[in-house]
This record gives sequence, C-alpha cells and structure tokens, in this order.
Amino acid sequence: MTEYGLIGREAESGIIDRLLIDAGSGRSGVLVLTGEAGVGKSALLAYARARASDMGVLQTVGVQSEAEINFAALSQLLHSALDRISSLPPPQSEALGAALGMMPGRPANRFLIGAAVLSLLSEAAGGCPLLCLVDDAGWLDYESAVAIAFAARRLEAEAVVMIVAARSVAGTPFAGFPTRPVDGLSRSQAETLLAAHHPRVDPLIRERVIERACGNPLALLEFASRLQEVEPPVPPFSVGLAPTAVESLYLEQVRRLPDETQLLLLVAAAEDSQALGLIMRAGSRLGIKPEALEPAEQAGIVLVSGDQIMFGHPLARSATYAGAAFGQRQRVHRALADACGPGEPDRRAWHYAAAALTPDEEVARELESTAWRAQLRSGQAAASAALERAAQLSGKADAKAARLVAAAQAAWRAGNGDRAIALIELATPLPASAQLRTDAAEVRGLVQAQRGMPRQAAQELYSRAVDRSRELANIADLMHALHLRARCELELGKVAVAEADAAEALQFGRQLNQPGVVVHSLAVLARVAALRGDIGESRRRAAEAVEHAIPHRLHLAVCAAVLANAEIDVSLGHCGAALERLEPLIAEPMAYPAYLIELAAMTVEAAAQARTPMRGQPALALCEAWTACLDVPAPRAILARCRGLLADRGEADRHFDDALRLHREQPNPLDQARTRLNLGEHLRRGARLRRPTLLARRGEAGEPSHRADARLAAD
Ligand SMILES: Nc1ncnc2c1ncn2[C@@H]1O[C@H](COP(=O)(O)OP(=O)(O)O)[C@@H](O)[C@H]1O
Ligand SMILES: [Mg+2]
Repeated sequence: MTEYGLIGREAESGIIDRLLIDAGSGRSGVLVLTGEAGVGKSALLAYARARASDMGVLQTVGVQSEAEINFAALSQLLHSALDRISSLPPPQSEALGAALGMMPGRPANRFLIGAAVLSLLSEAAGGCPLLCLVDDAGWLDYESAVAIAFAARRLEAEAVVMIVAARSVAGTPFAGFPTRPVDGLSRSQAETLLAAHHPRVDPLIRERVIERACGNPLALLEFASRLQEVEPPVPPFSVGLAPTAVESLYLEQVRRLPDETQLLLLVAAAEDSQALGLIMRAGSRLGIKPEALEPAEQAGIVLVSGDQIMFGHPLARSATYAGAAFGQRQRVHRALADACGPGEPDRRAWHYAAAALTPDEEVARELESTAWRAQLRSGQAAASAALERAAQLSGKADAKAARLVAAAQAAWRAGNGDRAIALIELATPLPASAQLRTDAAEVRGLVQAQRGMPRQAAQELYSRAVDRSRELANIADLMHALHLRARCELELGKVAVAEADAAEALQFGRQLNQPGVVVHSLAVLARVAALRGDIGESRRRAAEAVEHAIPHRLHLAVCAAVLANAEIDVSLGHCGAALERLEPLIAEPMAYPAYLIELAAMTVEAAAQARTPMRGQPALALCEAWTACLDVPAPRAILARCRGLLADRGEADRHFDDALRLHREQPNPLDQARTRLNLGEHLRRGARLRRPTLLARRGEAGEPSHRADARLAAD
C-alpha cells in the first residue's frame, strides 16, 4: 500500500502525477475516470487531492436527486472562487451570476456561462496550479455538466487540472475527453486490501468474499465487514446479493431499520434540498415523529448537520429511493409537496408530478410555470424536463402535443438534439394545429441542420412535405413547407430555388394572412437580393420583414433581415454599421441557433474588413464553440475562413488553405465564393475600395461570383 492508502493503481496514479507536474509548469489537463460504483474512483480523486497539497482545490459531487436543479453542482464547484466573479468581463459575470441565482438577470446562453466558468477558473488559478475535482459526474445537473465540460474543453495554459469521475460518460458532455477506465483490483491486490482492513477473516470466508466481489473494493470491504459479524457457519450471501449491485448492500442495511425510520429515510432520499425542516414537516404529515431518525443516524446511514440531513454515501440514498415500493414513493412525494411552502413552487410542482398517477391538468400547468421560470434562468434542460412531465400529465391530446413540442424546443436550445427529436416523435401522432406542426418540423430541421449533413436532410424533409401538400392541395401546409425549404436552400447556397420558394410562400402567406410565413419569406428574399448586390430591393424587403416580425416576436426572421442588411453594409464598406447590427445578436447566440454560424461568420468578416480584428474575436469564439460539436466539413470550412480573416498575415494563408480544402469535401457554392472573395481581399488588402457583390447580378443564380473569381485570378 502506498503512503496515500491506495493499493495498486500504479497506472492511474502515474497519470494523475503527470497532470499535476504539468500544471506546475503552467499546462492544463483533463482526465476522466470511469468505472462501476465502488471500484475506487473517489479514492483516486482523494489521492489527487492529497498529492496536490500545495495547490488550490475546487470540488463538486453530483447528487442523483439534484440532477434536475440547474447549476447546483456548478455553484458547489465554484463556491470558494465566487469572490472573484467581479473581476470577469461584465457579460460573463452577469451570465454566471444569473445562472447561479446570485443576481437577477437575463437568460444567458450556455457558451457565455461556459466562458465565464473558464475565466473564473483561470482567475482562481491566477497562474498557480489549481485542481478541480468533479465526482459522480453522471449525476450532475445537465446545465452544470455542460458549463464545466465547456470550460474543460478550452483549458490550455491556465495551470488547471480537472479530474472527473463517473460510472460512465457516454452521452454526457464529458464524453470525448481523455478517459481512463478504472477496473477492479487483481486477486493479490484484493487480498492486500482485505488483509489491511480485516486481518482476521476466516480463510474460507475470505475466499468467498474475494470471489464474489470481483475486485470491487467497496464490495470487498462491505462483504467482509458484514460477514465478520455473523457466526459461521451461516451461509455467506444468504440474502443472494449480486456483487455488482453495490446498492443492495445499503438497501439491506436500510431494511433492518424500524418501519417509521425507513419511511423517513425515504422522505429524505426523495427531497433533493436535504433540508431538515422540510423533510421533518413532510414526515409529520405521514405521522412520523422526529425521533424516528435516530436509528438511521446510529447506523451511520445519515448524518444530521446543521439544518441538513446528509446520506453517508450516495449509493445509500439511491438505494433507499429505488428500493421503495412505488406506492410508498408516491405517498412520500405527496407529503413533501404538501409540506412545501408557497415560496417553493418548483419543488412543489415536481413533487406533485412525481405523485401523480393519472392526468392532472392542474399539476401540468404548475409544471409549465416551473418550465417558464427555468427558462428565465436559462435552464433549458430543466425546462424541457418539466414540459415533458407536463405533457405526460395532460388530459387533452392537443395540450399534450403543444407541451411535447415546447419540451422539444427547450431540449434543442439546451443542445440536446436527440432528446428534441424523441419528443417530436412522441408528438407526431397527436392532433396538432398547422402552426404546431410547423414548429415541430422546424425543430426537426434545426436538429438535422446542426448535425451536419444536415441542411441537405432538412431540405429533403421539407421537399417531401411540399410534394405531399401539393398533391392534397393543402395550401396551409404547402406554404409552411415552402418557406422552411427556402431557408434550407439558401443555407445550402441554392439561391435561385430559394428565391422561387420564398416568393411562392410569400404569396400564400399574404393571402392566408400568416405573419410567420410572410416575414420569413421576406427575409429570405432580402438576403437573396443582398447577395446579388440589389441594394434597394434588399433594404425594402428587410425593412418590411422587420416591421412585421417585431410585433409577432418572430426574432429569427429579424435575425435573417439583419444578415441581409449587414451583407449590404459590408459590400458598401460600411463595416462599423454592420458590426453595430450584428453584435447584439452575437451577445445572445442561443436565441438564434439557426443562424449562429452565419451571424458569427458575417461579424468576423465585418470586423476583418474594418481592420478591427479584436471585435471579431467573440464571434470567432462562438463559431469555434459551435463547430466543436460537429465533425462536418462545411461549418469547419467556415470556421477556417473566419480564422484566416482574423489571423496575422503569416498564419492566414494556412487557414484559407484549410477552408478551401474543406469546401471541396462538402461543397456549398455560396460559402466557397465567400471564402474566395475573402481570400482575394486578404491578398490585396489595402488596394481595394469597394468589393464586388457575392453573386453576379443576373448570372446563373447560385454560381459563385465571377467577379470574385476574376479578382482572385488577377492576383
Ligand atoms: N486502490 C484502492 N486501495 C485501497 N482502498 C480502495 C482502493 N480503491 C477503493 N478503495 C476503497 O474502496 C471503497 C470504495 O471506493 P470509492 O473510491 O468510494 O469507489 P467509487 O468512487 O468508484 O464508487 C472506499 O472505501 C475506498 O477507500
Ligand atoms: Mg465515488
């Protein structure tokens, strides 16, 4: 055994030592440890902590029942660093402060919060090594996990070491980091462990313990201590425990307690705040006296400290909850809901929801309000969960469909495309208005667009909808499908068809008085005109789009109109004006996910043209963050172009080369033309007064600009 109490684990401790040494010379690093419960992940984190005695340490632990509480884990992690929050740039400190509930604030986006976490970590490190430990990461609330992973992905020279432990990180924001699976101990290591803790175990029992525990240290220790208490020849494992289900060990301990105590433990396990007062109030509604907690304290299952009840081990808590019968859990949730004050509407709604068996419109509406409040705190994932539960509790099919689609939209905004699609699929068979179906189709299209081959798939999807509604002469559906298809086509660089679809959709939209269709179609037409350099036409279309979009809160269309206007500004050399239009949108990118890359790219372009590359940096960072989730050539080509635009002369060529190569992998005529145009401008920087428009005015639409090509050839 090492001086740190670890048996074996040479490889893992070697990796950790290396990370700590690197941090000493300013390099950051991330390590994810995965493995089943009890295998020794927390022990390795403790080792890291002990080895880092001269470093600052920040630590957080995921708690299963807090997984729905936004930013719970993040606020624990940053707790001792929060005094430095005021030294962050104001947008970051505001976003983080609002997320952590420290100050009122606007909903902020994930990138900004993630960036704030990164800044705060590097502030906290202040050049000295800092160790961040994240235990039981699988149980972190989603928002915290996203923010922490975002920061971890961008650590470089802050001297921050982040070590994350989880049973598994598949499908979580921590997937993709350097990962070390932690396996069970070898036979001889298991013997050493037992000998260290239970030197006098009967050899026969020791044999059985080692055999059953499969190298899991927790199981080894638990089995051995229990078996020592019983008199041989009681058959070991008479309760038939499966050795990997470590939880059942705890459950068994719980089941030995008096009934009242068990019920009170269940109340504590079901309430994530661990607030003693609330738990006791709920207990008394179930007729339980406070003394009932004592046997659980004596058995070391829970610990009361101040006004909180804490479980000795997270497994004890999950075992208590999972091991209870459904009817019991229901009773307990109802008691907790009744015990919640009016100041805790979210908690109350969730407890009622957990207790509800049949549709209950009142509870569904309470959950909807919870979702709304979560969205104000930018807790999209929590909002989505609340809306999904509200949908399950909806009696009427149309209300259910609307809540499912809203849940899907929130899931999409939380960055969880798979969940969004799954929710849309649940909504699909239900009756829904044309508007709701459009919303649903839009989420689907957005997810597909984000996934990569994307817009192509979305375009195909809408094409099928166009064909079907033409066949059925369903004008309402046709116009929705047409304007959505036009937006995809424009993104794919198919300008002529986009224009035709938008014009047709506009006509139907006006006839049927559909503001959504009208403004989106106008915005597409404004952008097409801008690309052609048709200034008057573009400005007119854009102005009309904005005028109608604002009263109907159609922000995406406003965003598209801004893109059209900015395109023209840049082409006229009015880059400052373009930046002023774009920057407010860049500051709130999650409000405009569909246009995020285009907005960012346009901002970078304007900043480069204006010779103020610093103003392009936030947009570039956004582009990087977004593209990091995609392994698709087209957006990466745009990113490379943006890097080229802001890079020093020496570096720029390499980025432009990358961009051109990536364009060839997944061609988009418009994006390619823009890259060539930007490259030409880069090469002849200084000699140019006015740039050509991106598309030939009357040339075959969708073709790259001949003038841009010509410029490049002339260089
Ligand atoms: N390599 C080891 N050497 C000695 N004891 C260990 C080792 N790994 C784990 N343990 C002990 O086994 C128990 C379970 O380990 P823990 O780190 O809590 O597991 P996990 O975090 O993976 O669920 C703890 O009591 C821990 O001290
Ligand atoms: Mg652990």
